[in-house]
Order: sequence, then C-alpha cells, then structure tokens
Amino acid sequence: MRIYGRRFTPASALLAFFIPCAAPSQVRVASPDGRNAVVVETHEGRLYYSVERDGRPLLTPSLLGFDFRGAPPLRDSLRIVDSSRSTFDETWTQPWGEVSRIRDHHNELKVGVEETRAPNRKFTLAVRAFNDGVAFRYEFPAQPSLADFEMMDELTEFAIADNARAWWIASNRPRLDRSEQLWSEGPVSTLDSVQTPLTMELRDGKTFVVIHEANLVDYAKMNIRGPRMESRTLRADLAPYADGVKVRGHTPFVTPWRTIQIADKVTELSPSVIGLNLNPPPVLANTDWIKPMKYVGIWWGMHINTMTWSSGPKHGATTANTKRYIDFAAANGFGGVLVEGWNVGWDGDWIQNRNAFSFTQSYPDYDLPELARYARSKGVHLIVHNETSGGIQNYERQMDSAFSLYHSLGLDGIKSGYVTDLTSEGHSHWGQFMVNHYRHVIEKAAQYHIMLDAHEPIHDTGERRTYPNMMSREGARGQEYNAWGGDGGNPPEHETILFFTRLLDGPMDFTPGIFDILRTHTGPARLNEEPRVRTTIAKQLALYVVIYSPLQMAADLPENYDQVPAFQFIKDVAVDWDTTRVIDGKIGDYVIVARKQKSSPQWFLGAITDEEARTFSVPLTFLDRGKAYVADIYADGPGANWLTNPTPVAISHRAVTRNSVLRIALAPGGGQAIRIRPVGPRGGTRP
Ligand code: NOJ
Repeated sequence: MRIYGRRFTPASALLAFFIPCAAPSQVRVASPDGRNAVVVETHEGRLYYSVERDGRPLLTPSLLGFDFRGAPPLRDSLRIVDSSRSTFDETWTQPWGEVSRIRDHHNELKVGVEETRAPNRKFTLAVRAFNDGVAFRYEFPAQPSLADFEMMDELTEFAIADNARAWWIASNRPRLDRSEQLWSEGPVSTLDSVQTPLTMELRDGKTFVVIHEANLVDYAKMNIRGPRMESRTLRADLAPYADGVKVRGHTPFVTPWRTIQIADKVTELSPSVIGLNLNPPPVLANTDWIKPMKYVGIWWGMHINTMTWSSGPKHGATTANTKRYIDFAAANGFGGVLVEGWNVGWDGDWIQNRNAFSFTQSYPDYDLPELARYARSKGVHLIVHNETSGGIQNYERQMDSAFSLYHSLGLDGIKSGYVTDLTSEGHSHWGQFMVNHYRHVIEKAAQYHIMLDAHEPIHDTGERRTYPNMMSREGARGQEYNAWGGDGGNPPEHETILFFTRLLDGPMDFTPGIFDILRTHTGPARLNEEPRVRTTIAKQLALYVVIYSPLQMAADLPENYDQVPAFQFIKDVAVDWDTTRVIDGKIGDYVIVARKQKSSPQWFLGAITDEEARTFSVPLTFLDRGKAYVADIYADGPGANWLTNPTPVAISHRAVTRNSVLRIALAPGGGQAIRIRPVGPRGGTRP
C-alpha cells in the first residue's frame, strides 16, 4: 500500500506511518473548537497537507506545488524550514447579506518551505483552521530565482478520504463554459473535470465537504480535474490564456485561498461565510449608496420573443415602454427597472459583432437622459444593461466615459453580460485575463458609485466583502432557460441542488417570479409543451426566500401580475437579512429556509420541493418569545402540480407564536412562501 500519492490510505495506516517520522517535517493546526485540523508535512522532498475532522481523515495527504515555465517543478526537493502560529477572533458587520454579523475565528499556521536544491525557491504555506472549514494559500516573497514568472500549472491536490458522493457541473465542455448546466451526481472516483463549489457527502454519512476558492485576484479561476484510475485524488485545474499559460506575474505574490468547507449536516453548509472571512475588509469608505432592492425589467419579453433587444417594431427598450415599467415599479414599491437592448449594437448577430456595442449611445427611440430623470422623479433606479459579448477591449475602452455618463445621470446600477466562451484574443472566459477584467470593472464601478450584477460571471469568491458594490451574479442556469432551454427548461429539482452548490459561493440573480407559467397571454408554452417553467406559482414565490440575492427581480411581464393576489408576496418579501436559518433540506429533493428581515421583526420562510409532493412540520421556534405574529401563507392550491396544474395558489392568514408548528404541504414541483409579521401595538402591519 502506498501512503502518499494516488491511492486512498486508511486512517490507521496513516497513523502508523506518520508518528515515527513526524517531528520537524510535520506541523499541525486545529480549529478553535478543535474539530478540524490540517497537517502539513514533507515526505521524500514533497510537501503534503491533510485534513481531519474529529480525528477522522477527510482529505488524506494531498500534494502541494507548482510548475513554472523554464524551471523544474516546484515540488520535488522541498523542506519545511520554520513555522509560526496565530489566533484571530473578530466579528464584523456586512452592509448587506444573508446574515448581518459574521464571526471570523480561526487559528493560523504559517509554514516556511524551501527547495533544498537549485534554484532554491521558497514560499510560505498559510493555513487557516475555522470551525466551519479550513483554507490554505501559497505566499511567495520576492526572490531572485522566482521574479517574473509564467505558471504552467498549480499542482495542488485534494485527496478525498472516501468515495464521496459529489454534485457537479463540468468545466471542460465546449459551449458550457458559463456554468449554465444541470447538475449531475456521482462518486468522486468518476469525476472528469468539474467546477467549484464542489459539494460532497462523505460515505460515512456524517460529513459534507465543499471545495472552492476565496479572494481570486490576479490569478486564474480554479476548476477541478477528476482522479486518475483507482483514485480519489482531485487536482486544481487553472483556466488558461490562449497560449496555455495559466498565470503570469512576478513575486511577491499570493495565490487565492483554497477552501474546504466542512459541516456535519447539509443544512449547516448555508449560509457559507468561510470565503467572506478570507477576503480583505471593505476598501470603500462610504457604502451608504449601496442598497439591496427588488427590480422589474424589460427582459423576459425578449426571452419569450414578444420583444426584441434589436431595433424594429418589437423593440422593447423604447421610452414609452420603459416609462410603463417605471410607473409599475413605483406603484408597487420596486426599487429598480432594468432595461436591456437600449444601446446601439444589438442589430444583427450581436455575439459576432461584439465590438459594435456602444455603451453610451442609445437607440433613437430610447431617451436615456429623460428616462433617468423620469425614474428619479418616481424614486426608481434605472438599471443600465451592458452586454459585452466578450468584447473586452471594446468595453474597457468605453468604461470610463460610459460610467461617468451614468453617474452624471444619477444611474447607480449595471447588469453586465459576457455571452462568450473565449475572449476575442482566445483566452478562457475564466482565466487570469478575465479575472483581472472583472476586478477592474468592480473597481471602476465603485469609483463611480455603481452597483453590479454580472451575468456570465467568474464565480463568486467573496469579492463582495471588499467591494460591496459587487452585489449579484448569474453563474448557473437561471430562469431564462425556462423560456428557451433546448432541453425543456430547468427540472423541478434544479433549485434544490443550486441551494447546496452554486449558492454556497454567493448571491445569484436567478430572476424568479414567473406567474404566466403556461404563457396563456403570450404563447406558446402549454402543459406538456417545452420549454416552460417547471414549478408551481407558489414555488416561484418561495424562490425569493430560498435563492438569496440582494438584487431580486420580479421577472414576469407587469401585465401578468395585474390583479393577481399572489403578487402581494413579491411586494412584501425582503431582500436583506439579519439572519438565515436552514430548517431542513436534502440535495436534489427539498429545502426549507427561514430568514429574518434586516432591522425588522419580520421573518420570511420559503420551502421548495422537486417533482415529489412532500409535507413537513415546521416549529416556529426561531420567533421571539412572548410575541404574537400573523403568518401570511402562500401555499400550493388544490390540485396544484408543476406539470398538469401549476397555477393554483391558496392564500391564508394564521395567528402564530414561537410555539406554533406549521404544516407545510408542497405539491409536486411546488413550494410555499410565508411572511411572518408581528401583530400588536408596535408590530402591527397590513392584514
Ligand atoms: C444572458 C443573460 O443571462 C440574460 O439575462 C440577458 O438577457 C442576455 N444574456 C442578453 O444579455
């Protein structure tokens, strides 16, 4: 049996082997509660780390190192030269989020490592052990033998201790380069090339592990390459430049953190804060201008083909149509109106003609200054759409003039778009080139006080802590697939998987709230026709609570909300939270989440299921003791079923306290959304 390298090693064998040769070549750090531990050690000149929980291995010795162009791999003749430790405990407040206060409590170990042979390069491995997981990164000091570099590979491995069950989307399929895929499930040993967050359930049934990264700056996005034969060893797989180089730079530099979130129960994975704790504190002196909000927009019409982005008789972004949306937003308490297709460049093949987009010039039937004024007069924010199609240089050339124009008109929100797999230069959408571009946009937007919602983004690695104007992203299959997805739309289980995978990295602009599920007003989706929304209306409501986003869209056409009683929930639901509790859940089956509105005594609860009907009893023990509340309940109505009868919603109101237990019945593909508001002298709200 090999202890190191490619094969799985039982814990007993590890102990037997490690103890005798421990001493100077092995160091260890444990989390403040002592449950998670990382061991760093060398063996035959190679550097390894392993991760334990309660003394059981989660990751067996996993290789660390790099391959730089023109030099031997930084891997084969390493020794630990020193180590130091520190402890950190601080609680900080988010300007917005799933929770308002976050505790960063960890023990840190810094391990100095050097090559024992020429070129005698050196680095520090920084390891942090938290109660909710562990993380490490490489820190390179300036040094003559590693000054300017081209990194061809990061050799980091993740040797999973057993053949864990993994939920994954692929990272290496052409045209699927935008994370917009359905999730698959299977044992780690069968993974090919996948994205993070990679959520796994160990075979012991007692542990969930999520591999991701934090503070991705001036580096390439990390994907994960699957194991070779008979192995469970995953490898970091960095997205490349067109010429195959992974990262260009010079020392001193640090890599992003490689994070391994750990939980006993799946419900403890969310909200995930380990990535936020590994990002630097905010750099913006004033964040008062950054405000979570709900918005509507000229958007779904294009996806179901009743409007066009391009000019012509069906052009959606006209002055008159936009005023109609602004009026609707103002009348119903929405903060924003998104308008797509307002700017010149959409005619013809807008993906091929990526460099034809102007980000300042409107179509003649769209009066930007007048609409900015009109929106402001109604207390509504006009959200500007910037689709780049991956024409990065075209966008960067115009960014200053565009952002200063928006700022001068009082516009403070941009939804950006990057519909492309490769940039014009042939670089990966996820490589260092694009990581730097996205970061540049965040910084530039912050300079002009602009909030961002990026579609086809690089995945979230906690940037929102440092730049809270980086609010939401797409980065998974959203609602739009229910309009035109060639495979019929998102299956009923989709959002129950998203919650425990993609949403662990950060907020998602999923764009819930489609009520005209069968497109009775616009054609052509019908009961069994595809594509179509594969949920009930009550589940569309529940998604406002389940899928967290500080920018939350009511995605349907305004006319589809007209006179519909269930619309009241979308008007009422909060977008910013003091606290979040995941009450129950099973990946791919169901999720129940309760969230307390920021600076308010109100709670909202969302429950969703896959294609199975399910019933739950939910004790409301999270409510305040001694307080009386009313629950406004939006449940699947009689006979509701995502496939055959998606529209019935039963609305009821019920007095509750923290001693109440709600019976929550979900139809197949259904959901339930509940607002729980205090009643009485100070808490009284609309019945
Ligand atoms: C794809 C985005 O996800 C969608 O929201 C947008 O409408 C189109 N691209 C056009 O930019």
